Amino acid sequence: MGEVKSAWVARAPSNIALIKYMGKSDSFRNIPENGSLSFTLNRLCTVVELEKGVRSETDASSLRWLPEKPCSEKLTLDAESDAESPTELEQWLRVPSLGNAGISRMIRHVERVREAARARYSEFGIALSDDLPGERSASWILRSANTFPAASGIASSASFFAALTMAAAAACAKEIEAFSQAWERDSAFRSFLAGISREGSGSSCRSFDGPYVEWEGEMIHRVESKLPELAHFVLLITEQGKEVSSSEAHARVKGSPLWSGRVERVTARLARLREAIRSGDMAEVSRLSWVEFWEMHSLFHTSADPFTYWQPATLALLQQLSGAVKSSAPPIVTMDAGPNIHVLVEATRASEWSEKLSHWMGGGKVLRDSQGAGPRLLFPAGARGARG
Ligand code: DP6
Repeated sequence: MGEVKSAWVARAPSNIALIKYMGKSDSFRNIPENGSLSFTLNRLCTVVELEKGVRSETDASSLRWLPEKPCSEKLTLDAESDAESPTELEQWLRVPSLGNAGISRMIRHVERVREAARARYSEFGIALSDDLPGERSASWILRSANTFPAASGIASSASFFAALTMAAAAACAKEIEAFSQAWERDSAFRSFLAGISREGSGSSCRSFDGPYVEWEGEMIHRVESKLPELAHFVLLITEQGKEVSSSEAHARVKGSPLWSGRVERVTARLARLREAIRSGDMAEVSRLSWVEFWEMHSLFHTSADPFTYWQPATLALLQQLSGAVKSSAPPIVTMDAGPNIHVLVEATRASEWSEKLSHWMGGGKVLRDSQGAGPRLLFPAGARGARG
């Protein structure tokens, strides 16, 4: 009889901020200067597998990396389907190709999850596994796959850290049923996991719920919405990597003369956006999101060491979209720290918008997604269906 594989597999979606996290008050723990609010995606996600193996004498570290294998970008997943089994996923999962700094960041994060589990699992009625991930008694292998191009400007660090947190947190539990019950029934447990994830990468904490999530300080919460169901598009202007990482952008924006007053302005805007989502005022959500991404990019363009993510095509498309946002049924337009443009429209008008955007893109790639609800543990099977 073959040996049963000990593995924990989780998927987590990316999210796109309408009010941005830009500027940190504590960069060690990723505490933001201001609250932010995002829309959780669905199929644009990362799957992470943590596998426990037998530790060999030659293993230098307790997490093994084989950086020659690139991370897969060909996986497609549909959150509504139940077709994701570890056997089907197996062909896509790869050890991510990372430099030394990236590897240390991953190992540090698994250790962070383990130490938080050690300190707090008893509060949530979860017994600790005898063999915690990242400890020296076993060899742990991390594999992952994205459903989107890594350099597409979609926040892969958000989905990656959320999925890694889920997989590592599940691996810390002695009984997967206890973990699943806490995840399904206890919102304090979900916030606890989101908080650990935030320390890995700030925006990942907003991927723990959906479709509208507000993050303030160390807390996240879902914002009730009367907006219609939305469809999401990414206009992929380039798939090249960015020259300024978002971590660096967080530091550089404080050197802009426009930084002064930013926290007050964005806090007032966040309050208006929250209210517009609650009351279902799509036109107001569109207006506020438009101003917010322009303000964030203006901070980039005017920092002491100025930089831009824009390409000529970014501006051409924004000109087209500036007409649309003034219409009676406006789309929500926003940009992340990258050249690509995100457009959210009423799901009932998705086909019409898909055609229009493809036409404007002149054959360039347009990714399409829908609204999502947060991470899920895919394996072990005892935890299936956690927060569907
Ligand atoms: C522009 O979460 O990537 O996407 O905490 O340093 O990992 P770190 O930063 P990160 O910053 C994301 C910034 C943003 C806006 C946002 O998502 O709110």
